Amino acid sequence: MRPADLLTCKQEGRPIAVLTAWDALSAALVEEAGADAILVGDSLAMVVLGHATTLPVTLEEMVMHTRAVGRGLQRPANQQPLIITDLPFLSYQCGLDQAVAAAGQVLKNSPAAAVKLEGGEPETLAVVDRLVRSGIPVMGHLGLTPQSVHRLGYRRQAKDPISQERLKRSARDLQAAGCFALVLEHVPAELAGALSQELQIPVIGIGAGEECDGQVRVTADLLGLTAKQPPFCPPLLQGRELCVDALRGWVGGLQPAPPTTPTTPAAPHYSEPSPLDH
Ligand code: KIV
Repeated sequence: MRPADLLTCKQEGRPIAVLTAWDALSAALVEEAGADAILVGDSLAMVVLGHATTLPVTLEEMVMHTRAVGRGLQRPANQQPLIITDLPFLSYQCGLDQAVAAAGQVLKNSPAAAVKLEGGEPETLAVVDRLVRSGIPVMGHLGLTPQSVHRLGYRRQAKDPISQERLKRSARDLQAAGCFALVLEHVPAELAGALSQELQIPVIGIGAGEECDGQVRVTADLLGLTAKQPPFCPPLLQGRELCVDALRGWVGGLQPAPPTTPTTPAAPHYSEPSPLDH
């Protein structure tokens, strides 16, 4: 899959499935499940690195995890899901050249073919424009943007008509700046549905209703592996409980080692004379 193939999916009315992965094991599962694209999301900061927010993850860590994801894929290269990697907090907000260098580092040093970044402010639009003109495909992300947690919280976004209009404008601007797709997180379903109708690029929803061109989920949430799931991502199974129960059964089933019968050491045929013998 290439970024442009997602547009074909939208044009042909085929729903786009995007799942996150963070290492070779999760990537293999997601590929086998048939996802069109793998997002190496900066949610890995919380899901696998144990941070309280996505802010601390570094560009180097994102590259390292993306390389591991690439190693987990088994299909021939032209049949593999598209890999999109999140640009982490402050890797693209400190100037256009730095943003190009950060995105370039991802594309040069990992199998990612696209990056994702959050927001639709004029500064972000300038970054998207510059990246796209440098040959780097960019996915946008609006609504609940976890890198702005200290400003917006983890709350549902765009609840009133004014903020809905603002979000619509940002979505149009991101499309005009060259984004090949747009993630909408935790926004009203009607808004996401309307934007999916209006925009040419695919709208990929999470907590944004059923009427998007595609859906993205944090795989660990979907499998019920994380301790706390977001309200808009009900798990498909109680993965954490299943795993802990299975492991507890194994731990509890360990048997004490059978007692060993003491063996008398064989008498040596010949012993060196000890200096004490004299
Ligand atoms: O980091 C991530 O996993 C994401 C998804 C929630 C879209 O950005």
